[in-house]
Amino acid sequence: MAKYFKTVMTHFSRYLPPGRVTNNDLSKLMDTNDAWITERSGIKERRFVEEPIATSDLAIEAVKKVLAESNLKPADFDYIIASTLSPDYYFPGIAPIVQHKLGFPTIPAIDIRVQCSAFVYSTQLADAMLKSGQYKRILLVFSDVQSKLLDLTTNGRNVAVLFGDGAAAVICEAKECTQEEIPQASNQSSGVIDTILGSDGVGAEMLLLRTPGTATRGFLSPETYENGDWHPKMDGRVVFKHAVNRMCEVAETLMARNKISANDIACLIPHQANLRISEMVREKMNLSQDKVFNNIHKYGNTTSATIPICINEALEEGRIKKGDLVLTVAFGAGFTWGGSLIRL
Ligand code: UT7
Repeated sequence: MAKYFKTVMTHFSRYLPPGRVTNNDLSKLMDTNDAWITERSGIKERRFVEEPIATSDLAIEAVKKVLAESNLKPADFDYIIASTLSPDYYFPGIAPIVQHKLGFPTIPAIDIRVQCSAFVYSTQLADAMLKSGQYKRILLVFSDVQSKLLDLTTNGRNVAVLFGDGAAAVICEAKECTQEEIPQASNQSSGVIDTILGSDGVGAEMLLLRTPGTATRGFLSPETYENGDWHPKMDGRVVFKHAVNRMCEVAETLMARNKISANDIACLIPHQANLRISEMVREKMNLSQDKVFNNIHKYGNTTSATIPICINEALEEGRIKKGDLVLTVAFGAGFTWGGSLIRL
C-alpha cells in the first residue's frame, strides 16, 4: 500500500518574560494614555525583558518548556526553524544559538524572516519538509524582543505602544498515514490540512526598521542613529487596511478551497496586531466572539510568537482541544501574509 506522511503539531509552549508594562507605565515615558491605547488597539499591558536578556534567551525558555511537556530530548529532532525580526546579532540568526545552548545535535538550524507571518510560513515550510519524508521531527521556534528596538518616546508612540516581548515553540512530527488519513477538513485526521501564503514588497517601507542595513550609506551611521532609523517605523493606517484585507482574503480562500463554512471552524486564531483588526476579520467571517481567541490585551503584539502563544493558551484554557479545526491568519512587514487550516 502507498505510504504517506502527514504533519502533526504535537506540542505547543510559550514563554513571556515576567516584566509587566502597563499602558499607564508607558504614559510616563511618552504622550499617550490608557484610554487611547485600549480604544485603538485593545492592549492593556505587555511584557518587556530586562537586561541582559536577548531574543535567543526567550526562545530557549520556550523550547525548554516544550521539551519538558513532550518528554523529548534534543537528540529526537532533525531540524530547527526559528523566526524572529530581532535576532541577538545582525548575523548569525538565533536558530544555531538555540541548537548549541540546549545541546541539540549538529542538525540544520535556520532563521526565517517574515516578521508577524512567522507561524503560517513556518507551518508551510515544516509541512512540506515532513510530508516529503525527508525529515521526521522539526522544532519551530518563535521569539522576539521588540522592547529594545522601540522608540519609547512620543516620536515613536504609534508603534511603541503596540509591541511586547515573547516566545513560543511548536513540535511538528511526520506521522505515517494511509491515503484516507491525509488530513482534510472533511475527515477527523489530525495535522496540517492546508496553508496559503503571500507577499508584496510594495509595502516594504510602510513597516520597517531601516538601519543597520545595506540600503543605508555606510550600513550604520551617526546620522541614522540620531534620526531614529534604528527604531521600527510604520504607516499605521495603510498597514491596518492591508492587514484586514489580506487576513480576510486568506480566510475566505482557505474556507472555499476546503469546502467549509465558518461554522465548521472551532476557533479562529488571528495574529495579534490590533484587536480592531481581529474583530473586523471575525465580523467579515460572521463568527461569534467565542469562536475567536485573542490575548492581545495581556501581551500586545509579540510579532513572530502571537499565534503559537494563542494556541498554547487556548488549549490550556480549554477553549480548543485536540481534534479541533483551527484557522490561523497572519499579516506582517514585507508585506507578508498567510493562513493555515490545522486539525489539532
Ligand atoms: O503586526 C504587523 C501589522 N501591524 C498592524 O497591523 C498595525 C496596524 N495599525 C494599527 O494598528 C493602527 O493604525 C494604530 C494603532 C497604529 C494607530 O491607530 P489609528 O486609529 O490608525 O490612529 P492614527 O495613526 O490615525 O492616529 C490618530 C491620532 C493621531 O493624532 P492626530 O493626527 O489625529 O492629532 C496620532 O498622532 O492618534 C495619535 N496617536 C496617539 N495618541 C496617543 C498615535 N499614537 C498615539 C498614542 N497615544 N500611542
